[in-house]
Amino acid sequence: MTLSFAAPSDGAIPLHVIEQSELEGWLSDQPDAVRSWVEANGFTGAIGQALLVPGVDGVGMALAGYGTAAKRARKRFPLAAAAEKLPEGAYRIASGVGDDALPTECVGWLIGGYAFDRYKKQSPAKARLIAPDSVDAARIEAQVNAEALIRDLVNTPASDMGPEALQAAAEGLAGEFGATCDTITGDALLAQNFPMIHTVGRAAEQAPRLIEMNWGASGPKLTLVGKGVCFDTGGLDLKPAAAMGLMKKDMGGAANVLGLARMIMALELPLQLRMLIPAVENSVAGNAFRPGDILTSRKGLTVEINNTDAEGRLVLADALALADEGAPDLVISMATLTGAARVALGADLAPFYTDDDTAASALAQAAIEAADPVWRMPFHEPYEALIEPGIADLDNAPSGGFAGSITAALFLRRFVTESRYLHFDIYAWQRSKEPGRTKGGLGQGPRALLAALPELLGL
Ligand code: BES
Ligand code: ZN
Ligand code: ZN
Repeated sequence: MTLSFAAPSDGAIPLHVIEQSELEGWLSDQPDAVRSWVEANGFTGAIGQALLVPGVDGVGMALAGYGTAAKRARKRFPLAAAAEKLPEGAYRIASGVGDDALPTECVGWLIGGYAFDRYKKQSPAKARLIAPDSVDAARIEAQVNAEALIRDLVNTPASDMGPEALQAAAEGLAGEFGATCDTITGDALLAQNFPMIHTVGRAAEQAPRLIEMNWGASGPKLTLVGKGVCFDTGGLDLKPAAAMGLMKKDMGGAANVLGLARMIMALELPLQLRMLIPAVENSVAGNAFRPGDILTSRKGLTVEINNTDAEGRLVLADALALADEGAPDLVISMATLTGAARVALGADLAPFYTDDDTAASALAQAAIEAADPVWRMPFHEPYEALIEPGIADLDNAPSGGFAGSITAALFLRRFVTESRYLHFDIYAWQRSKEPGRTKGGLGQGPRALLAALPELLGL
């Protein structure tokens, strides 16, 4: 599905976005007929209210409630709440949204047109928005179509989004934007020294693989690494049903880096992009890896498996080691890595880790601008001891589980020693419908990163 602004047209319905406290003043400038229509329909300017106002012939204008600043702070896309209720038609924002908020409100409106309709016909919001003059329409459309891609990939169940399909999705994206895409599959992973990717994925019907996409010939080097666990049963340390139910989304990191890559390529950012996705299914079979096994990683560090459910860090470790060998200017990993990240920050806020204070503050600021909330968590050095077992270099699942998101991040950092590193421990899932967000797969971080990239890479 491609989401876009409506083509400019003379017949567009002017939309006035009205702050609750300003309704009275606005009404006092209107003719009596408008005033009584608005009052009779109980329009108060609350967030989510939408009203068509008759004109001399047909619809004269539309109103959308914009609440108060305090109420808007509780929503990510406040205008989308009203847009979803407007009837089919093309609208142009005639008043009421400040230039600062306009790009985000446009993203929210357009992504309201998303629906996951692969298995059943759906009815997404129908009101179409004409791009306001002051916004960069291409940039907004790039963000929205990246988000739609992320949601589609995450929403598609493992029966149709195994490692093969994830590879096909990466190849499809590469083809669309003239990138190259190469994949190392099955035993070739052993021959080319990606032992942990192979070990985690070897019990599944579809062979484990490392997908690599490259794009861009000049500029700073950015390498994205996404966790592509297409289904996470937990392995022999099997997850209980309640925890396994959602694990089709365990490739959410891969989906998010594909989304970020899509934006970078669509906007032709002047950089050299490399994207790596270890794609596996963490399954149960006679050849599954076991608790107590000790693996030797690509980097040479040995890892004691204390829980086969802590598989994401294993496949990422080999991909991160490869990323680091290229010594890019920045490595970013995105992964649905730990339940502990949800305990720490909940579903809405994506924790990120970096040693670069400047990057962290650029990202925090960009996240606010992009309405893509992220929050820095620490690579707390005193916890390093927690990931060091007695008989191997690293422990994949420290006992006790305290600070689980931090210990997972510290584990990954051991594999990135040459490059600047940013790591996101995301959820990639929206638990219930909100304006601009369907229940299901969700992008977390890519829009914040897009906004921060000029500062992160000196573009
Ligand atoms: N994919 C899960 C993490 C996860 C769970 C993300 C729920 C989002 C929602 C990951 O592979 C996992 O199972 N991690 C374990 C690690 C533990 C065994 C050290 C976890 O978080 O419980
Ligand atoms: Zn797991
Ligand atoms: Zn997992």
